[in-house]
Amino acid sequence: MELKQQKLLLVLILTLLFATATPDSEYVRPLPRKTLTTIPWDSISKAHSSYPQQVHISLAGDKHMRVTWITDDKHSPSYVEYGTLPGRYDSIAEGECTSYNYLLYSSGKIHHAVIGPLEDNTAYFYRCGGKGAEFELKTPPAQFPITFAVAGDLGQTGWTKSTLAHIDQCKYDVYLLPGDLSYADCMQHLWDNFGKLVEPFASTRPWMVTEGNHEEENILLLTDEFVSYNSRWKMPFEESGSTSNLYYSFEVAGVHVIMLGSYADYDVYSEQYRWLKEDLSKVDRKRTPWLLVLFHVPWYNSNKAHQGAGDDMMAAMEPLLYAASVDLVIAGHVHAYERSKRLYNGRLDPCGAVHITIGDGGNREGLAHKYINPQPKWSEFREASFGHGELKIVNSTHAFWSWHRNDDDEPVKADDIWITSLVSSRCVDQKTHELRSTLLTP
Ligand SMILES: [Fe+2]
Repeated sequence: MELKQQKLLLVLILTLLFATATPDSEYVRPLPRKTLTTIPWDSISKAHSSYPQQVHISLAGDKHMRVTWITDDKHSPSYVEYGTLPGRYDSIAEGECTSYNYLLYSSGKIHHAVIGPLEDNTAYFYRCGGKGAEFELKTPPAQFPITFAVAGDLGQTGWTKSTLAHIDQCKYDVYLLPGDLSYADCMQHLWDNFGKLVEPFASTRPWMVTEGNHEEENILLLTDEFVSYNSRWKMPFEESGSTSNLYYSFEVAGVHVIMLGSYADYDVYSEQYRWLKEDLSKVDRKRTPWLLVLFHVPWYNSNKAHQGAGDDMMAAMEPLLYAASVDLVIAGHVHAYERSKRLYNGRLDPCGAVHITIGDGGNREGLAHKYINPQPKWSEFREASFGHGELKIVNSTHAFWSWHRNDDDEPVKADDIWITSLVSSRCVDQKTHELRSTLLTP
């Protein structure tokens, strides 16, 4: 058998395996199967294939935005025209392009172009590669208030569509996604499907994502891990001094956000750990009073799904986050919602972080209904329902967090709480010396 035939056979076997795979045993399917089924290929967009598609935007350094899109045409140029009036583009940004192969799949031409400097809180109209539809985006505000939409483990099912529709209603400025995007799981056309599904939302507001286990897509030694994710969802890692797209940070409107990688090395000798210390040492709480951290695998989780899976990363990195007075830690992975009280090292602590698990965006694996009982003291609210979160940071001292079930109307809050910043509670001042000694320790 020739090499090409062998590869084809392997792909067929893998496709059959994935297509018939039973879900993770930790997840059950109590909901109508229809809503958990991946939306069929080609049902989302039949736009002309030579036109730019799968357009999405992300923050790319102060007053800049990265525009990403894909074309089937390998000769299509990588520039973005943009301006503040529809159809009138007085600026142009030249970008870069990439592509990748995955077994027998060859991606389209993936374009990334950074536009800016942009005015804050302003609508811009833009067009990719000189043809196709015009898109409109809004830049985030320079100052409070700012609203983040939050949901992890998004997938591409009927529940995903419901989550996206709710998020769209909440008028957010930036979307934060703590891992597990497309659930393509090695079937690369599902990445294209996902790109088309989210384009109406991700082309209008910046989507900031970090990787989950479903982005790894590593098949023995046949494929590069994270190749699809890194090629399609380039985040501002270079702008934040990181050497990997798997972890980075950004600042927006008085908030410093750190996106860590649960699937990059994180021990105290790792590059990610070194970068985290450096990044934390640059945080100025006068400029960014709020400090948020996101990653995929939760550290505090009273659901039976993925129990203890984040322990190693927590042992390595929680002391650093505590020393730096991180306000809020957001994770996904567990397909349910849970919010903690402030805690550190397993105990309630007024200077610790609030931990939120929100892996309930709508993926095909279903919900995680089994909980450890009794509910731990640190766990304030937990429920296995699909939904999304909204974090409105009102000023330097107060933020309003709410969680919304897909089964309710969007304005209905199933859980909500005012969170007071650690800056305002003097925890930051008390820890200044501890922070300095922790960060300066080799
Ligand atoms: Fe996951």
